[in-house]
Amino acid sequence: MRTQIGIIGGGPSGLCLARLLSLSGIKSVILERQTRDYVEARIRAGILEQGMVDLMRRAKVSDRLDKEGLVHDGIVLAFDGREERVDMASLTGGKRVTVYGQTELTKDLYDAVLEDENVTVIFSAGDVELSGYLEGSPKLSYTKDGKRSTVECDYIAGCDGYHGASRASVPRGMIREFERVYPFGWLGLLADTPPVHEELIYANHERGFALCSQRSHTRSRYYVQVGLDEKIEDWSDDRFWDEIRARLPAHIAERMVTGPSLEKSIAPLRSFVAEPLRFGTLFLVGDAGHIVPPTGAKGLNLAASDMYYLSTALIAYYNEGRSDLLDRYSEVALRRVWAAVRFSWWFTSITHKFGGDPIERKIQIAELDYLMSSTAGKTTIAENYVGLPFDPSFK
Ligand code: APR
Ligand code: PHB
Repeated sequence: MRTQIGIIGGGPSGLCLARLLSLSGIKSVILERQTRDYVEARIRAGILEQGMVDLMRRAKVSDRLDKEGLVHDGIVLAFDGREERVDMASLTGGKRVTVYGQTELTKDLYDAVLEDENVTVIFSAGDVELSGYLEGSPKLSYTKDGKRSTVECDYIAGCDGYHGASRASVPRGMIREFERVYPFGWLGLLADTPPVHEELIYANHERGFALCSQRSHTRSRYYVQVGLDEKIEDWSDDRFWDEIRARLPAHIAERMVTGPSLEKSIAPLRSFVAEPLRFGTLFLVGDAGHIVPPTGAKGLNLAASDMYYLSTALIAYYNEGRSDLLDRYSEVALRRVWAAVRFSWWFTSITHKFGGDPIERKIQIAELDYLMSSTAGKTTIAENYVGLPFDPSFK
């Protein structure tokens, strides 16, 4: 089979990229290792920056998002028995975020992509191998139903997440990887209960970090920081609810509506960046190239800027014969990646319990106290949380 863009991975990055390209008449083939049901059932985060909402609109897949997404103007930080609101909209000239589950977003993208004549999706594509991308003859091979097949293409987009095949295929001497693994994870619980508060609450507590998030007016998503040695079997729903209530201001904890979990899992926290993001005719996009701890809600929103830059560059190549934007992709994408890596690391560092040393928490509280007492301090959180702009010169 031959196509223009060979895409590895049918997560949000691969799907949205395929859609953006298709609307400019560019054809792609997506190789996804899992089944559609498996991909659509994965529970992921749910905060979209305006840049991601705009991309969904541009990809013509935003009907449900526009109807069901909940627009939030602010977030609440709880620490030292206080609650402080960061009014993001007023501090950033009207920028806001939208609460819409990545699970729903993925379903919307599949609905569109599977009807799209420019996109072919191959599910259950095993043992994907990349070749020729350093020599200008990129090829993907894969196994499906016991049969090995090949896709020849002009370019490869590696959208296969942190554990995918694309980054792993790059010769070690050509890539540099930066990584920090944090000494804790997040235990998350999803429940059909009304959210405890209209806005998200990020809590620094001496027992550890806690987050109150949501998917809708009737579905909540909560997290507590846990040690890396914790096992999910040891966390009954009741234990989870007791722990999160213990980490929240009393009057909020009292209001918490509990219920049976729909999903419960532990995720490790990591900062990771691969440099560069381009190797010949292979481009890394989204989690394949970088990971941030979830504290700033940046994972999907960073994938968004990659998709924006790469789709813009490929459209300029096919429509105008220009390769200058392809040449700039890695540098421009990485600049925004590092900005979000910095914010996610810093926001994690002031909200989580690291060692047990009491001076650490005193310093965190002093920093939060300072930030909340200053318009500049609140603005730095607000500007980063709503999302830094895409580079306007990339066109
Ligand atoms: N071959 C084919 N497909 C693969 C392979 C492989 N070797 N390895 C992984 N995949 C698929 C996965 O099954 C998954 O569907 O690639 C997809 C990668 O999707 P994501 O991990 O969701 O990554 P991405 O699309 O970049 O999305 C970024 O989603 O994962 C969150 O935190 C992340 O929010 C961020 C956003
Ligand atoms: C989520 O709703 O899953 C969520 C929200 C905000 C975060 C991380 C995760 O910072």
